[in-house]
Amino acid sequence: MKKYRAIQWATGVVGSSALRGILRHPRLELAGVKVYSEAKEGRDAGDVIGAAKTGIVATRDVDAILALDADCVIYCPMPWSTEEICRLLERGLHVITPCPYWFPFVQNPDVAKQIENACKKGGSNFHASGCNPGGIAERFPLTFTGWMNRIDRIQMTECGDCTTYSSAGVMRELMNLGKTPDGARNNPLKTMLAKSWYEPIDMIAAGLGSRIARYEAKHDFILAAEPIETAVGTIEKGTIGLNHYQHIGVTHEGTEIIQEQIWFVGGSGQEKLERKMKVPRESGWRIHFEGDVNLNVDVDFPPELTHDERVAQGLSTTAFHLVNAVPLVCEAPEPGIKTYLDLPMITGCLGDESSTR
Ligand SMILES: NC(=O)c1ccc[n+]([C@@H]2O[C@H](COP(=O)([O-])OP(=O)(O)OC[C@H]3O[C@@H](n4cnc5c(N)ncnc54)[C@H](OP(=O)(O)O)[C@@H]3O)[C@@H](O)[C@H]2O)c1
Repeated sequence: MKKYRAIQWATGVVGSSALRGILRHPRLELAGVKVYSEAKEGRDAGDVIGAAKTGIVATRDVDAILALDADCVIYCPMPWSTEEICRLLERGLHVITPCPYWFPFVQNPDVAKQIENACKKGGSNFHASGCNPGGIAERFPLTFTGWMNRIDRIQMTECGDCTTYSSAGVMRELMNLGKTPDGARNNPLKTMLAKSWYEPIDMIAAGLGSRIARYEAKHDFILAAEPIETAVGTIEKGTIGLNHYQHIGVTHEGTEIIQEQIWFVGGSGQEKLERKMKVPRESGWRIHFEGDVNLNVDVDFPPELTHDERVAQGLSTTAFHLVNAVPLVCEAPEPGIKTYLDLPMITGCLGDESSTR
């Protein structure tokens, strides 16, 4: 079976986990590692993540990365760049990422065209994956709709204490944690974030053979009642300690599709917040269906895991989803954007034998 040569691009929380995943995956070989941090440059990839030596040295030099003999890039920076993604695709490298764009055709048609053109030039594919978006938000709900006939509402809720998540960019910028109410209301990422949540809504609608007729975004929050120590520093009293987003799409047939996130700090009991919000779960995800079949699909880690283990494993799901998608994305026919509606089922991988299909 062909093995694919993968470049790991950025080694933050998700990128480090993806790098570990590449090293373990029977059908992948590490071809290179692109880092941003000066401290990581020149170090063996294994040293960067506390694993055995790999013989592959991390570099900040993009041209050196582009010159490598490789099949694909697992692209995990923060922030990401569409131009950079297109450069990789034009060079003939398939790109698999936890960053947008999961289903850009409705929210970002110009970007979709730009990426499709880059894919055509390079004979490459682009796929955005992850945990949420990239799993909970669209892949798994679409699967369960196969159990239903009439579908009135699909609601995905992510709930969680993020105190130990060590990405300042994600925590402070995407999740608004530690921002003032005005800072959150004027967050320059707001429009981008709404589009990022509308994309999986559009994918579900398309998967169900429909389109969204009406979109709505709702935002509220609860302030910290005292300073809260987190992995990205102190969330000050009077700044946002719980951020609640809802992004809603209603199809032409009236089916509501809702993406909801309740992110907070300071412990699952919310004791350090000015008030408590009633949450459907203490942590993890709920996918709720209403129609002729009513269903709650709860996804969580076993209670014996420590909080830190839950956060780490939650982020590993994002990374491993990318890594496991590599062979399918590399093998997908016709260069272009490959969403879950285009790819076969993504599974884990135990060996490099071909399947019995
Ligand atoms: N879809 C999902 O479910 C999901 C879940 C989690 C995260 N994400 C996305 O995945 C990406 C990575 O998340 P993360 O948690 O790994 O974040 P992170 O820990 O903050 O890592 C981001 C990495 O980006 C690199 N970086 C530093 N400065 C940069 C710059 N100026 N421009 C571009 N990259 C720079 C660094 O790489 P080096 O350390 O190698 O220098 C840094 O470690 C983010 O874009 C996030 O939104 C998606």
